[in-house]
Amino acid sequence: MNPKEQLEEYTRQVEAVVRSYLPPEEGYHKTVLEAMNYSMKAGGKRLRPLFMREVYRLFRSGDQDLRQERAVEPFMAAIEMIHTFSLVHDDLPCMDNDRLRRGQPTTWVRYGYDMAVLAGDALAVYAFETAAKALEFSDDPQAVGRCMGLLARKTGVSGMIGGQTVDVELTGKPVDAGQLDYIYENKTGALLEVSMMIGAVLGGAEESQVEAVEKMASCIGSAFQIQDDILDLTGTTENLGKPVLSDEKNEKTTYVTLYGMEEAREAVRRLSAQAEEILEGLPGDHDFLKALIDMLITREK
Ligand code: IPE
Ligand code: IPE
Ligand code: MG
Ligand code: MG
Ligand code: MG
Repeated sequence: MNPKEQLEEYTRQVEAVVRSYLPPEEGYHKTVLEAMNYSMKAGGKRLRPLFMREVYRLFRSGDQDLRQERAVEPFMAAIEMIHTFSLVHDDLPCMDNDRLRRGQPTTWVRYGYDMAVLAGDALAVYAFETAAKALEFSDDPQAVGRCMGLLARKTGVSGMIGGQTVDVELTGKPVDAGQLDYIYENKTGALLEVSMMIGAVLGGAEESQVEAVEKMASCIGSAFQIQDDILDLTGTTENLGKPVLSDEKNEKTTYVTLYGMEEAREAVRRLSAQAEEILEGLPGDHDFLKALIDMLITREK
């Protein structure tokens, strides 16, 4: 299989894992469950759980203990729930005010503002309920507990929510280089970092290796957000499944508005090369992860 076919196959596998952890839509509060699953089932690239499992496998190459790998699965579903919650809230009228996500009307357009807020909240909390299920599979409850703490930290004020706070607060205002780095490292970098750190911790990585994985993921995260900004200007709604020119509409300062398109493209290449250099120092088979980082540089969706 070439890397592109491999990515398609892995994405199908991740999709099945994520879906297996979605809540049943029943009871008096059925509407919020439907709204949660509406955004979760709409697809998306599933990159965060994919990276999580691949990093786990770096540290477990040759290991036949599939029961241990099952301990990663609740966390794979959990990170996708957190990421989806961040998107549901990011699209709200009080934030980016967007009407299309993953090729369908955004959750607030389909279910109303109230249900979209509740569905986002519910996904955020259900993620931890889901992650706790890893205890059923893992023989290392301490590692599971540590991963839950990391997931909380990188989701909250020290991570994604911190980044979104500065992003929203500085909308329509001048942004300096330091503030922009903070926004990217947190609103986007933090969830990619924790995805890969959880893979490393559950895989039994040493402390210095967990730190290297965090740094690698931070580079991937910043490159990913810069490419997202580029695609907001150069992509198509059809490919992206979300509106183009959203940043312009909201008068956001992005890497492209601050440094120009050429430098933005160069930064994506530079950060990806940095990530690949760190990857080279990690154990296991790097081929697929390297190919994935390369594919992200030229991604169109
Ligand atoms: C979109 O993330 C939000 C950003 C952090 C740029 P993705 O591009 O991974 O969105 P999905 O999951 O594929 O929909
Ligand atoms: C999103 O940044 C980061 C999140 C934490 C959701 P954007 O606002 O650029 O993401 P898109 O372009 O709407 O997916
Ligand atoms: Mg936003
Ligand atoms: Mg947005
Ligand atoms: Mg964007």
